[in-house]
Amino acid sequence: MQPLKNGRALSEENDLGFKSLQKLIGEKTGIFLSEHKKMLFTSRLNSRLKSLGLKSIDAYTRYLRHAPDAEGELARAVDCLTTHTTHFYREKHHFEFLNDVVFPHLLQEGEKTGVRRLAVWCAGCSTGEEVYTVAITTNTFWGQHPSWKIKIMATDISREILEVARTGIYPHSIKKNIPTPYLRNFFAEITLDGLRCLQVKPILDNMISFEEHNLMDGRLTRVPFDIIFCRNVLIYMGKEAKKDILNTFYRALRDDGFLFLGHSESLIGLNDKFYPMGRTIYQKISEA
Ligand SMILES: C[S@@+](CC[C@H](N)C(=O)[O-])C[C@H]1O[C@@H](n2cnc3c(N)ncnc32)[C@H](O)[C@@H]1O
Repeated sequence: MQPLKNGRALSEENDLGFKSLQKLIGEKTGIFLSEHKKMLFTSRLNSRLKSLGLKSIDAYTRYLRHAPDAEGELARAVDCLTTHTTHFYREKHHFEFLNDVVFPHLLQEGEKTGVRRLAVWCAGCSTGEEVYTVAITTNTFWGQHPSWKIKIMATDISREILEVARTGIYPHSIKKNIPTPYLRNFFAEITLDGLRCLQVKPILDNMISFEEHNLMDGRLTRVPFDIIFCRNVLIYMGKEAKKDILNTFYRALRDDGFLFLGHSESLIGLNDKFYPMGRTIYQKISEA
């Protein structure tokens, strides 16, 4: 007996369809759809199939290959297949390390060389909480060094999620994760549809450019970066995709630049061109 999904047996056709979907999603996004979670993935994609009027996973895969809106649909597929879970000050020790170690080091170096610029990339930024936390930490430290040029780029494959990030509006409950002085300095209380919310102030917004970007696209337009955050994204990827993305990060970072990964991610068996600097924190070993 085939397992039941929404009262209907998963057909062999859907089984084959899953394999070609798995291949396509892997090639295009790096995301690995494991066989043992097939039921979960196909049921998550059901709503997409329904809204497009498609009858099978196979038809959906063809749509993802050939439809004029294939790129946009790919991002919506990623929305279904991954989570956007994130919060302010997630893995707090990363922001302490930025403030206590990375920023003083870069300041000292920049003052010595006269190159007073800082570039940060938050890759897979989801709804923005991570990049706004980076911006708070950055503003708090670099606010005292106005001659420095600061740029933060935040990217995600999902257009919808980036729209949320750009608004900078969050439920009032985020308050518990943010130190009180920063709440006052960087957030404004607003009411939206009768609900109390917090919105990041322009002082943070203005530091960040949000852009749609697929990490499988190895082209680099704005380099080099001093710091890359890519946390809780590689966890969804297959091994080869992880290697490719880590190589992209290596090329995107300046010599001795810093890479921050998620709490369950590591470089073991994937890339040996970074020094471990702390829990899920790495520094690029320069090419020379
Ligand atoms: C769990 S969230 C991580 C959010 C944040 N970095 C954090 O750790 O709090 C994963 C994000 O990765 C994005 N993502 C997944 N595959 C991607 C890809 N190939 N390119 C860019 N972003 C991707 C998803 O859209 C999602 O927003």
